[in-house]
Amino acid sequence: MDFSQDVLRYDEQAIMCLRSLYRQYGYSQYKMSRFEEYGLYAGNKAFLSSADVITFTGAGGKLMALRPDVTLSIVKNAKDDGMLKKLYYNENIYRPDGYEFKEQMQVGLECMGDIGVGLMAEVLMLAKQSLEALGERSRLDISHMGFLSGLLQSAEINQAQRVELIKCFSAKNTSATTSLCAEYGLDDEFCERLTSLMSLYGPFGDMLYDLRRISVNDDTENSIRELEELLCELRRLGVQDDINLDFSIVNDLNYYSGVIFQGYIEGIPKKILSGGRYDELLRKFGKKSGAIGFAVYLDLLEQHPPATNHTYPPSPRLPTGSLTPDPCPLSPRAQSARTSRPLTPDPCPLPPDSSDETHPMINIALPKGRLGEKAYAIFEAAGYGCPAMQEESRKLVFESPENGVRYFWVKPSDVAIYVERGAADIGIVGKDTILENSPDVYELLDLGIGKCRMCVAAEKGFIDDYDRTLRVATKFTNIARDHYEKQGREIDVIKLNGSIELAPLLGLSDVIVDIVETGKTLYENNLETTETIVEISARLVSNKASYKFKHEAIAELCKRITEV
Ligand code: PRP
Repeated sequence: MDFSQDVLRYDEQAIMCLRSLYRQYGYSQYKMSRFEEYGLYAGNKAFLSSADVITFTGAGGKLMALRPDVTLSIVKNAKDDGMLKKLYYNENIYRPDGYEFKEQMQVGLECMGDIGVGLMAEVLMLAKQSLEALGERSRLDISHMGFLSGLLQSAEINQAQRVELIKCFSAKNTSATTSLCAEYGLDDEFCERLTSLMSLYGPFGDMLYDLRRISVNDDTENSIRELEELLCELRRLGVQDDINLDFSIVNDLNYYSGVIFQGYIEGIPKKILSGGRYDELLRKFGKKSGAIGFAVYLDLLEQHPPATNHTYPPSPRLPTGSLTPDPCPLSPRAQSARTSRPLTPDPCPLPPDSSDETHPMINIALPKGRLGEKAYAIFEAAGYGCPAMQEESRKLVFESPENGVRYFWVKPSDVAIYVERGAADIGIVGKDTILENSPDVYELLDLGIGKCRMCVAAEKGFIDDYDRTLRVATKFTNIARDHYEKQGREIDVIKLNGSIELAPLLGLSDVIVDIVETGKTLYENNLETTETIVEISARLVSNKASYKFKHEAIAELCKRITEV
């Protein structure tokens, strides 16, 4: 019976395509149960994207879990017999996504054994080919945990300080990293190295030169050496030099030790592929082998179907017609890369391939109101004006094709959502919203406008004598919880949406956590600040995928805004 692939959904075709690709390279399928003992996840929470797991009591009374991750199960079951294992899987996992758990489809591969640079290059090549098979334009970015780890070891910091620095580092937040370095008493040279490393973004071969200038010790040198060998190996495999280095990709150092990477497809606002070298995880299971692998999050393809007028997905590249052996149709570029392998190593990096550089429009979400108007004035002064913005109208979208920008007026608290989900490439958001909602975005610039403070305030003369749970009224429930958790103070959070100052006056709360700008509202309501939690100002944030696909345009915009 002939089998027509037309009956398959796009994501189902994608699964077949990837499976076929991995089989060609000698990976065999690994099937596993949906259920695992909960202990496997409880002992490795930091390896998971979230510690929340669906649990139930199994027939034997054991606490079981619906699998939130595939790699842990494979590592647990794999024999540590020194034999090379090349496995691929196509499994559902169960993870929290927003407010609910979701069943998500993953396809991925794991390679365990004696992992040399040749196998690392093969896995990276397969990651790149997976992306190219799924989208018209894709990006694969790599980082090396050894380099960051080596650089951090050169500074005298404790574990908590290290965690804070890594948080700012992975958000490409230069201003916060600089402030933390000053706060921790770290010298300017270290700070300069760290901020240079986080800003580094570009073709693998070119960036190695910059990386050498940042290197400080044997660990960083060894990482560079491994990256150089990997580059040569990739080029031997015919992989083009359009893999980028991006050190803001950071995974947990307790599990990942070497090269790590992430993949993006244009049109999908989040990473669709994630992987790396995770030898440390095997050590936790008492295994001696090395390991590298990656997962492709196929549910994202379902959530972001191509627009009807869009050439994505590139259907000619996916198998059509009857099912014949092999064919994982790749882009012409990937096809030629696969067939034309240079026989001799060429260790000299090529100049970057700039063939797909265009001049894209940057979509900018501005917060409605005074802050947005101030921010727009900065953009205008930096050469990103849009005359239509000055006209009296109720329009929400304004375009200036000549300056390459499109502005949206958005409710201030929604800006980060538009950016995180890729409806806008960049946006202007108050640090209060970033701290409260932790959006998955890069925090590129502190604009130094919209300055205020996040404070605890209470009626004049109020003393917290710790004799009962403190009642805290606020719009910023996460910031309040975090603040009191650090103090070990038990609180009852009362979520309000405005006029927070009323709460202590009417006996609804003991204190409030709120923004103080001039202090006038507090003063006129007989309240006073008791603590400042954090200084607030407006930040320029970027969607992570947009940062990759519109990098030149966004980097130029940031540069011009900094100059203004
Ligand atoms: C904010 C904040 C304070 C006030 C502080 O309120 O919640 O109430 O500004 O400003 P001040 O220190 O200059 O007096 P917003 O105007 O956003 O209204 P809200 O009460 O609805 O939150």
